[in-house]
Amino acid sequence: MIAVKIGGSVITRKDTYRHFLPDICRNIVRSLFPFRDELVVLHGGGSFGHILAKEANLPADLNERTKRYFSRIHNDVLLLNSKINDIMAEEGFNPVSIPTSLFFGEKGLNVRPYRKFLESGFNPVGMGDIVLSGKTVKIISADDIMLKLSKEFNPRLVIFFTDVDGIYSDDPKKNPEARLLPTIDSDINFKAVQNDVTGGMKHKYEIIKKISHHADRITVINGKYPERLKDLGSERFIGTVIENGR
Ligand code: ADP
Ligand code: IPE
Repeated sequence: MIAVKIGGSVITRKDTYRHFLPDICRNIVRSLFPFRDELVVLHGGGSFGHILAKEANLPADLNERTKRYFSRIHNDVLLLNSKINDIMAEEGFNPVSIPTSLFFGEKGLNVRPYRKFLESGFNPVGMGDIVLSGKTVKIISADDIMLKLSKEFNPRLVIFFTDVDGIYSDDPKKNPEARLLPTIDSDINFKAVQNDVTGGMKHKYEIIKKISHHADRITVINGKYPERLKDLGSERFIGTVIENGR
């Protein structure tokens, strides 16, 4: 199985509410065509999720205010999901959406729908979403779901498409001295860069460390240049590769 996360940072304009970037999304989807027989796709929320989620100040108790946010955010995330699924269907995939909030319960995410549709030759498409956990409303990111799926399915490859070239020694948007890290191949190296990783990448980085015990290979690559995927495994490759730490 191959699992891909398409970051909200790369297929939406993060500062403009519900602004989708269809051409970038289509290019990413096309680059995945060789993997379509074993592919699970997850996507982030981008400006379909984060703008209202920030305003809602989550996690928070379920009440009239958070219920209104729940409905709006969940609908917006599904709107983005249907745009991605449209493109996937047009490009020859068999996408089926697995709305996270519907399959999230006391024990976390139920992965059975993923298994069922994967085994039947579909491409399950999950997403970062707003969920109800007991009486608490909170956000589950697609990165969190990636960890859960990796534990269940032990993917041979996990791909994170984001809006920078990979994992750097520091935030490349803030620090011009930041170096792209081509490989992070052991726990020792993980420790060496840990303190430098900040911002949106920090949570992802922590999750990737955990995923590395359950997947053969993980890569973080720039979704604006998905054709770079073809070079994975060669010296030409531009991105970060993490080999399994099992
Ligand atoms: P996505 O939506 O693709 O999942 P995020 O927006 O959560 O991604 O995180 C990507 C952002 O993390 C990048 O735009 C980058 O500015 C920021 N970032 C912070 N620290 C780092 C780092 N060490 N390496 C790469 N990116 C970083
Ligand atoms: C966030 O999912 C989902 C919502 C805000 C509803 P992610 O955290 O995976 O999204 P991106 O990739 O950072 O946009």
